[in-house]
Amino acid sequence: MVKKINTAVFISGRGSNLKSLINFSKKKNSSIVIKLVVSNNPIAKGLQYAKKSKIKNFVTLFNNKNISEKNILKKLYKNKIELICLAGFMKILSKNFIIKFKKPIINIHPSLLPKYKGLNTHKRVLKNKEVVSGSTVHLVTSKLDSGKIILQKKVNVTNSETIESLEKKILKLEHILYPKAIKKFLSSL
Ligand code: GRF
Repeated sequence: MVKKINTAVFISGRGSNLKSLINFSKKKNSSIVIKLVVSNNPIAKGLQYAKKSKIKNFVTLFNNKNISEKNILKKLYKNKIELICLAGFMKILSKNFIIKFKKPIINIHPSLLPKYKGLNTHKRVLKNKEVVSGSTVHLVTSKLDSGKIILQKKVNVTNSETIESLEKKILKLEHILYPKAIKKFLSSL
C-alpha cells in the first residue's frame, strides 16, 4: 500500500483546485490524504468542499500575520502535516513560517514561471500578446513565485482570447496538473 502523506491545502476563495485535490486524495493509489484546509477568508467557497468531505478546516484572518502564522503552525503540528499545497492562497507566508514548518510547501501559479509572477497574470499575458501561457507547480520559498519548478503545462492563447476564457482554460488544465505534480514531487523524495 502507498504511504499517504498528511497534507494541508491553503485557500482564499473559489477552491476549484482544492476540489480537484480532494478528488485526487480519494483515489486508491493517491499519495496524499488531506487532513486540513486553511483559509484566511471565512466565506471562501472552497471551505464548502472541505466541509462536504468532512475535512477539518481552520480559518484565520491574517489581521496579524505573526499571530495567524503561529496559530496555523500549531494546527499543522497537531495534525502531523507533512506537506502544504497552496491553492489560490492570497497571503504571502513569511520566511519564518517556511523555516519553522520545515517540510515542503508547494504552490500552483497560473503562468509559465518565471514569466508573470504575482497577480493579474492573464491580463498581462494578453496585453503582451503572448501566444502561449499555462500553469506552473513549484516549491515555495520566501521569494514570491520563485522556487524550484516541479511541473509546467502550456496552453495556446488565441487571437480572440479574453481574460475570462484564458482563466477558464488554464484552470481546467490546473485540475490535472496539480495532482500530477504532487505525485511527481513525492516520488522524487
Ligand atoms: C488558480 O488559478 C491558481 O493557479 C492561482 O489561483 C487560482 C485559484 O483558483 N494560484 P481556485 O481557487 O483553485 O479555483
